[in-house]
Amino acid sequence: MTLTSKIGYKVNCGPFAPEVYRLPFPNFYRYSGGMSEDQFVDQELKRLRESGLNVVSQENLAAIIIEVIQGEGGFNPAPKAYIKGLREFCDKHGIVLIFDEVQAGFGRSGKWASYEHYDVLPDLSTWAKSMGSGMPISAVIGKKEVMDAALPGTIGGTYIGSPLSCVAAIATLKYMEDININALGEHVGNVIRSRFNEMKARFPQIGDIRGVGAMMAMEFVHNGDPRQPDGALCSAVVQGCSERGLIIISAGTHKNIIRILSPLTIEDELLHKGLDIIEGVIEEAVGVPERI
Ligand SMILES: Cc1ncc(COP(=O)(O)O)c(C=O)c1O
Repeated sequence: MTLTSKIGYKVNCGPFAPEVYRLPFPNFYRYSGGMSEDQFVDQELKRLRESGLNVVSQENLAAIIIEVIQGEGGFNPAPKAYIKGLREFCDKHGIVLIFDEVQAGFGRSGKWASYEHYDVLPDLSTWAKSMGSGMPISAVIGKKEVMDAALPGTIGGTYIGSPLSCVAAIATLKYMEDININALGEHVGNVIRSRFNEMKARFPQIGDIRGVGAMMAMEFVHNGDPRQPDGALCSAVVQGCSERGLIIISAGTHKNIIRILSPLTIEDELLHKGLDIIEGVIEEAVGVPERI
């Protein structure tokens, strides 16, 4: 609860753990303002280094945690060079680097870990969601020196080590291997990407199509401007889809992004049926002429 930037989750809750500091996510689409990716990464890494002067001293920093591809934030992939720079920064200052794979892990990006797209290893990573096929279980994976720092028996909890959840997770992982979940993630992503690109060509209100593997998102903006999010249109699309039997949710700070979180085992026909509904609802919402 302390870590999340989704303030909606925190209303009337608290107090939260102190000394968690945040930097804006390096969201290239939204904040690059015409810069090249290299220039943008330079700027963002400078901001990171400066945070040691004006946010919190590096000596007081235990860990940095990031989703290399944001989930709730709207499927924003951090630029590759940024994650490399972040790793160097953590190595230089002895800071533990943690990648949160809770949403992006287990094939959703087309790889087991979304950080495999980055050629960078974290010191720790966090995992959950699909891991237990709905049974409550999560995992922390890490380097020996970090994992072994806690003495045996010193990390506990009421729900820890549930045999049922462990069996479910082992069976799930095996099944994911058997069906080659990563290839399925890649396939689902390709279907969505090509349909989304067609939609972008039809509707100028779609400012960006992006994603890695099956983590595909479309972002609605006014006037083609990444800094003018169109949350109202997105909300109308979510509502319209729901009226036609398709449940989708919005994402991003301005709730102007639709991300697809279908099962990776979905059949093409059903996936297209859902995408047809999205396309039809956008068409109705923006009132475009008939398809040529
Ligand atoms: C990326 C990510 N990390 C963490 C969480 C939640 O973690 P927890 O259940 O431990 O609060 C979520 C939940 O949606 C998530 O998307």
